[in-house]
Amino acid sequence: MMATDGITNPFPGLRSFESNESDRFFGRDLQIQDILSKLKDNRFISVLGTSGSGKSSLVKGGVLPRLSKGKEEDWSIRLMRPENQPLQNLARQLAQMGKLDVPDEDAEEYIMALLMRSRMGLVQVVEEMKLGASDRVLMVVDQFEELFRYRKEERAQKSEDSLSAKFVNLLLEATGQRKVPIYVMLTMRSDFLSDCTDFHGLPEAINDGQYLIPRMTHTELRQVITGPMQQYGYPISNVLVNRLLYDLGSSMDQLPILQHALMRTWDYWRQYEANAEPMGILHYEAIGTMSQALSSHADEAFHELDEEHQRVCKRVFQALTQIGKEGRGIRRPTPLWQLCDIANAKPWEVVAVAEKF
Ligand SMILES: Nc1ncnc2c1ncn2[C@@H]1O[C@H](COP(=O)(O)OP(=O)(O)OP(=O)(O)O)[C@@H](O)[C@H]1O
Ligand SMILES: [Mg+2]
Repeated sequence: MMATDGITNPFPGLRSFESNESDRFFGRDLQIQDILSKLKDNRFISVLGTSGSGKSSLVKGGVLPRLSKGKEEDWSIRLMRPENQPLQNLARQLAQMGKLDVPDEDAEEYIMALLMRSRMGLVQVVEEMKLGASDRVLMVVDQFEELFRYRKEERAQKSEDSLSAKFVNLLLEATGQRKVPIYVMLTMRSDFLSDCTDFHGLPEAINDGQYLIPRMTHTELRQVITGPMQQYGYPISNVLVNRLLYDLGSSMDQLPILQHALMRTWDYWRQYEANAEPMGILHYEAIGTMSQALSSHADEAFHELDEEHQRVCKRVFQALTQIGKEGRGIRRPTPLWQLCDIANAKPWEVVAVAEKF
């Protein structure tokens, strides 16, 4: 998030909302209510939708903050992504709860051993935590589809023991019992739904507790634009709001682009207007409107790099995106050392390039 004059931009741009940003998260009240009520009946909930439809934001910026505020139930929420090490990431999140009778420095290893030993590993770990009657543990697995790429790599390495299947089994066993209060919520791109059939029991669990994220209505989109501005007392012209809604059309894929354009327009407005005028059409046009905002921002960032860094930049972007057989792009979490290897660059050069974007 960019700060101008020490004031923070209320629009996150291309990234998803975080759980500490619920004050600027708008337009999803009905969906939050729906998911919360689903959670009463199901311990395994999957939030599904197309790429960029707002799954992670809805869960992190909308649902989780409401849960932690509950009174009858005391939620311990852990948030993870599978990345290249789903089991370790799960163990780390559980260890960070600090509720086991094990020294902090040994907790992760201790948990990992339990998780590896049996399908009931996650249940056992939570059972050993000293939880009160109202305590609930919610493990949120964001970008669950990363697990399918991980599984393919595992297969390519002909690994004997499938850690991806172990990970899924742990989640399924934990949510299929009622002895300890474990809940799982995952976000996953709907175009990966069929990959779930690769894991025993996963399709059934998904069928029981799925939530397909709906397209935002005109009114909700209006809230997305005006809500964060009103929240911080920033004026925005009605003409701009209507223009944004018009430019958005009926396409759902535009949410990231709208968000990026709002972030850029706000930065421009703060920099050049110092609040004399409400944020308006002039500022929006100055950043190239929705049709240009993204490419001009990327071009600006790319051209600010010298020739050597531009080379590093191209290699890094190629490494971070994997195009599947069906032409679906999928994020490929890649450790820094590997990016350095691929781009033949030093760690600080890769970091400098990434920070430009
Ligand atoms: N309620 C909202 N209000 C404003 N912007 C939103 C909202 N929800 C999502 N966005 C924006 O839409 C974009 C996509 O959001 P997010 O990353 O949450 O989607 P996603 O479905 O998880 O994407 P992916 O398929 O890449 O995981 C981001 O730019 C985010 O800031
Ligand atoms: Mg996401």
